[in-house]
Amino acid sequence: MQRQPLVIANWKMNGDRQLVTAMAEALRESAAQHADVSVVVCPPAVLLPAWQQAAFYDNIQLGAQDANEHVSGAHTGEHSLALLVESGASMVLVGHSERRQFYGDNAKRIAAKVNHTLNESNLTVVLCVGESAEEREQQQTFDVVAAQLQEALADCNNCERIVVAYEPVWAIGTGLTASPEQAQEVHAFIRNWLQEKFGPSGANVQVLYGGSVKADNAEQLFAQADIDGGLIGGASLIEEQFVAICNAAQ
Ligand code: G3H
Repeated sequence: MQRQPLVIANWKMNGDRQLVTAMAEALRESAAQHADVSVVVCPPAVLLPAWQQAAFYDNIQLGAQDANEHVSGAHTGEHSLALLVESGASMVLVGHSERRQFYGDNAKRIAAKVNHTLNESNLTVVLCVGESAEEREQQQTFDVVAAQLQEALADCNNCERIVVAYEPVWAIGTGLTASPEQAQEVHAFIRNWLQEKFGPSGANVQVLYGGSVKADNAEQLFAQADIDGGLIGGASLIEEQFVAICNAAQ
């Protein structure tokens, strides 16, 4: 099975309604140039309804940046899967390095979020993994990535609604992109791991690269055999940049 190219915008805690309108228009105008690419936007959750409205007639999917692992209840400030679905989300990022580093998403919580999403909704999980600069220097990249995959996916029996995003922490928001060869090496490792865990269907899982992807390095990264697209932070807030990245994935 051919893997469809996938580009996901992660707006993090950025953007506003004006940018929703401008970005939706830019993606609409350029739609023919990235017709074969699945484009997903993960804005802050409060902007999901605005995106739903702005992109109603467009082929753009929406995603959430995180979801709580409980159905509902006393979890001030959190978002349930049901509310995210009602607001148009069809994907959810889990285990982004910023959530691992600053918001208490440890291995146990990430696994709970993965299992809750897969068992209690139809959403696709975009599981984010990646090593720190120190771990790379100590040549622990493969061990760290394998442990993160194992911890998060231990209870999963199939990979139909799983996407993996490899995001080396040292490349996120730093302007330091992994070279296409460095990224490909880890992507091939991830694909092998997925095949060992899930059998032949593991080969069909989309594996995205994230970390300072820009218009001028996207094409080379996406040309690698095991890189199926990107998870884009900063450049997804600039219309020309994000459109060029979507076009590069075509
Ligand atoms: O989710 C996106 C990644 O953290 C990459 O962010 O493109 O700003 O480096 P960046």
